[in-house]
Parts: sequence; C-alpha cells; structure tokens
Amino acid sequence: MEKYYLTTAIDYVNGAPHIGHAYEKILTDIISRHYTQRCDDVFFLTGTDEHGIKIQKTAASKGVTPKELCDENSQKFKDAWKALDIDYTKFIRTTDDYHEKAVQNIFNKLLEKGDIYKHSYEGLYCSGCECFLNPKDLTEDGLCPDHQKKPDVVSEENYFFKLTKYKDAIIKHIKEHPDFIMPAFRANEVLNQLEDIQDISVSRAKSNVQWGIDVLNDSDQSIYVWIDALSNYITALGYDTKNNSEDFKKYWPVDVHVIGKDILKFHSIYWPAFLMALDLPLPKHIFAHGWITIDESKMSKSLGNVISPTSVLENFNLEYPDAFRYYMASSAPSGRDGNYSDEDFKEKVNAHLANSMGNLLNRTLSMLVKYFDGEVKPEFKSENPLAKKALGTVQIVKNHFDSFEIAEASQEIIQLVDATNKYVQDNAPWTLAKEEKMVECGQVLTNVLDIMCIISALIYPYCPNIAGDMAKQLSFDLKTKLDDITANSVKIGKLISKEDIKPVFLRVDSELADKSAKK
Ligand code: MSP
Repeated sequence: MEKYYLTTAIDYVNGAPHIGHAYEKILTDIISRHYTQRCDDVFFLTGTDEHGIKIQKTAASKGVTPKELCDENSQKFKDAWKALDIDYTKFIRTTDDYHEKAVQNIFNKLLEKGDIYKHSYEGLYCSGCECFLNPKDLTEDGLCPDHQKKPDVVSEENYFFKLTKYKDAIIKHIKEHPDFIMPAFRANEVLNQLEDIQDISVSRAKSNVQWGIDVLNDSDQSIYVWIDALSNYITALGYDTKNNSEDFKKYWPVDVHVIGKDILKFHSIYWPAFLMALDLPLPKHIFAHGWITIDESKMSKSLGNVISPTSVLENFNLEYPDAFRYYMASSAPSGRDGNYSDEDFKEKVNAHLANSMGNLLNRTLSMLVKYFDGEVKPEFKSENPLAKKALGTVQIVKNHFDSFEIAEASQEIIQLVDATNKYVQDNAPWTLAKEEKMVECGQVLTNVLDIMCIISALIYPYCPNIAGDMAKQLSFDLKTKLDDITANSVKIGKLISKEDIKPVFLRVDSELADKSAKK
C-alpha cells in the first residue's frame, strides 16, 4: 500500500460540535491510525462547511456577520478534535481563499463543457438539508423527513447541472463495484434514488443567499453549497482544474470518504457525477456510518439532549480521550445506528479497558517484578500457545478495517484480551511460583507479555495514549508495522522496575458517572 487518503464530512458551523460529529471524526481517526500501521503515507482530511442559507440565518439571528460566526464555531470544532486526539493532516475551511477560487473554476469548467445551464425553476428548499426536495419525499404533513420542518417555496432562475446525463454511468459504476458504497446494504437505497433522479439546481439567487461563493462573471448567483462542499475533497489537495498539484496527483482518487448515512445521496450520486464531468476518477469507497442517539432518542436542540464531546471528558474526569474514543467506535456495528448513555459508557470502559486489558498488563508485570525482579530470562522464551490466535487476530482486524468494520475489529481485540486472561487463569503463574517451577512461571508471564505487545499495537488506533503507556512498559516500539509484528517482541533482559509499573487505565468513577447521568 503506497498511500492512503481518507476524509470526513465537513461539518456545518451553525453550532458547536456534538457527539454525532465526534463519532465520525473518531471513526475516521481510528481508520487513519490503523493505516499508518500498514503504510507510510496517510493523508487524513477534515474541516468545516461554512456557506449557505442556514449559516446566514443563524448569524443574522445572533447579530454577527456570517464570517464571525464561522470563525468562532470552526475553532470550536478544531478545539474539540484536539481534545479527542483527532490527528488530521489538514483542516479545510470552505471560506479558505484557495478553496473559493478553485470552486469558481470548477463551476466554470462545467459551464464551459455544457454540463451546467441556466433555467427558471420553482421548488421546495429545505435549509436543513441545503437542497431542493422532491414533493413525494415529504412527510404526510408536508415536512422534510430529516428535519421535520416545512421547506421554503423557492422560485428563481438558477444554474442547473445535467445530473441525468450521468445517471446510467453511475448506476453501472455502482453495480460493477460492489465495494464502492459500504456497507453494501446501502447500495440498493442509492440505486432506488437514482431511478427518478433529475437535473439539480447548482446555484441560488444572490438576492436570497448572500453567504456563498459567487459564480464567476455572474455575481447575481451564488454557487450551490453542495458543489462548494464536495469539492473540498480535491481542492484541499491543490486541485483547481488547471494545474494539478503534486498532492492531487499523489493522493487522488481518495481511498475512502467517511460520511453519515443522511448524506450518502450527495456522495454517491452528485459527487460521482461532478467528478465524471470533470474527467476525474471516482472515490474507491464511500463508507456511510449510522447515527448516534442519546439514551435511544435522536439528538436535538428542542429535546435539549445534545451532548458535546468535551463535556463527556470533563464529566468523567478523563485524563485522556481514549475511553470515549473506544466507546464511541465500538458502539454500533458497521453502518448501523449506535447509542450513547453515561451508564453504558461507564460499564463498558471499566469492563474492557480497566478490568480486562489494563489489569492483565498490570498483574503480569507485577508478577515479573515480584518473582524475577522484572527480568525476562532467555529460558522464558518458549513455544507460545497464544501466538497463533494473536497473529490470526491481527489478520482478522486488518480484514475488518478493509471493510470499515471498526466496532467488529474492536470486539476481536477484546476477545484476544479475554483469551489471554483465560490463559493466565488456566496456568496460574502464582501457583507455579509457589511450587518453585520458576522457569514455567517465567514462560507463562513472558508469553502473556509477548501477546500484550500485539494487543497494544491493535488497540493503538482506538486508544493511542493507553497503547503508548502499555508499549512503554513493554519496551515495545508502537511504530512497528502490523505486517512485521511477531509474537516474540519482548526483549530478553531487565524489562521493568516496580516504580515504573503504572495502571494504564483507571476505572471510571461511578459517583461522577451518576452525577452526570442525573444532569
Ligand atoms: N456539511 C455537510 C457535509 C458536507 S460533506 C462534503 C453536513 N454537515 S453536518 O454538520 O450536518 O454533518 C456532518 C457529519 O456529521 C455528517 O456526516 C453527518 O452524518 C454526521 N452527523 C451529524 N449528526 C450525527 C449523529 N447524531 N450521529 C452520527 N453522525 C451524525 O452534512
């Protein structure tokens, strides 16, 4: 694998980030970190989507300019990602100069090609979706099904994009590439939507939407937000239709766009059509994750149940974001909806990260110190009965990541932890020590520590700090590529002293959790 390029959706900045936005960034960061363990050149793009009627209206209601609102809120997203250790390569803002210019050029290229034309139109516009809705998709009460709001009736002369011209080519692409839309069960949904697809409006009258990028040579029109937003995936690499930058040549086509299921249509129909019109290759994969609910209800301002990711870290006094990252990433099977609850969070991270994984390392190292003064002797290296399972788990985890099954991969890791715990229980090194079978005792402990090196590598994408602390105590190099990992990483000689043993994850305090649950 020479390079891996992956992106998140870029978030609207009419509010602060919530744990739904965080879920996606965490998943993508985990995928990104996993691929750094398989290839040297990973490019991870995220950012904020800053134009459109919704932002214009929010800014007006707050008495600030749209740009002031964008600056303030975009920074909140950056701060949240920092707190969650989201290690992106680049953060794009659609108000960045270079992006705005490139979008104008892209629009013009499509206009010159004849794929964009002018047309008078009356339609139903939902500012939540930032798109025109088909009347047949509305609820019985005439509301947008996603936003439960009545769309505005808009009558304008707009530019239109010939989406219908690309319909057959997109259908063919989806059918010929079963891994284009992932999970695969979503492909049928898209094929159904393609059935009655029409040309789409790709600009709005400036008199109605001022906060947008001007169409070149026609400043009465703003470019439609989705052309603007989707183009971020190529403009961030320096694409501007004329001179293809080195990064663009190197990283495009993207390996995966990670997005929520609600915006799959834009990514698997509109975006491929725009790319075809630009004569550019299509993304390799589009991975649509599910939605996060709170205590089984949809998160919404009106229900007052919107949770900010940093508030979870604060409520539980978490030193690192690792536990939250782990919990979110393992909360739902690939592509399905997941749920956040304080109670469940506390139970799961205490069970998996503290009791099973953290204690295993702590107990094993403590016994190594107690019985052998922290030294691994040459005769402790023996046939390791856990090696086959552990190396098999590395392969299974890789396969899961190739299918964007992040929760499924985490389950495999925990199963390996459980199997290792069982091995310790079954072989009772404390009894072996009591019986003075010291070589056997040392062998059991060393076998466990060798597997813990593999576990630290596998858990690293989810819990980079905990993995770092584990690897440090094991003197294991976390930069080891997954393909180079063996079940024989622990070095012979003094491994650790008593004072250097430190629990890698402390149980989440239940009183704190109860307090935050009552809030
Ligand atoms: N700006 C567009 C995306 C443009 S991408 C070229 C947008 N922004 S958004 O802020 O509404 O959503 C950003 C991402 O967060 C989307 O992928 C969306 O699915 C995801 N989520 C928003 N709420 C969510 C949950 N409650 N749960 C999980 N993800 C959710 O759409």
